[in-house]
Amino acid sequence: MSFKFTEENLNRIQESRKKYPTALAAVMDTLWIAQDQNGYITNEVMEEIASVLGIDKVLVLSAATFYTMYHKKPMGKHHIQVCTNVSCMLRGGYEIWKQIKEKYGIDNLGVTDDGQISIEEVECMGACGYAPMIAINEDYYEDLTKEKVEEILGTLK
Ligand code: FES
Repeated sequence: MSFKFTEENLNRIQESRKKYPTALAAVMDTLWIAQDQNGYITNEVMEEIASVLGIDKVLVLSAATFYTMYHKKPMGKHHIQVCTNVSCMLRGGYEIWKQIKEKYGIDNLGVTDDGQISIEEVECMGACGYAPMIAINEDYYEDLTKEKVEEILGTLK
């Protein structure tokens, strides 16, 4: 299935491109815009990005596969990322990860059957001072306890 950017997203890419000295440097922004439109990054999406930026597809592939924030398959409506890196681990990150896996009955990069929830164990998300933390889509939740996590998950609709 082919992929084409919407007019609006082509404009976003053009704006983003102005911030960088080279087209290659804009690849991460462009991948993010693509994921925003398509939900995840496919071969066709990478081909379109390479074509729009005028760079080799292998460079798009390298960035898309290196960074975990780019999904390679459809994720849930609420994508929950749980940090288990050092600061979060020392303050209960693994307990929260276990709690969330058990609650939804799925493992890393799994999606619930209704497509509502997906979960992912991630490395440091830059909020170490507020560990432990999780992110749900683009929102961060910090200084967590198991009780707070349960409360937050209860608000997801
Ligand atoms: S270690 Fe979890 S945010 Fe840095």
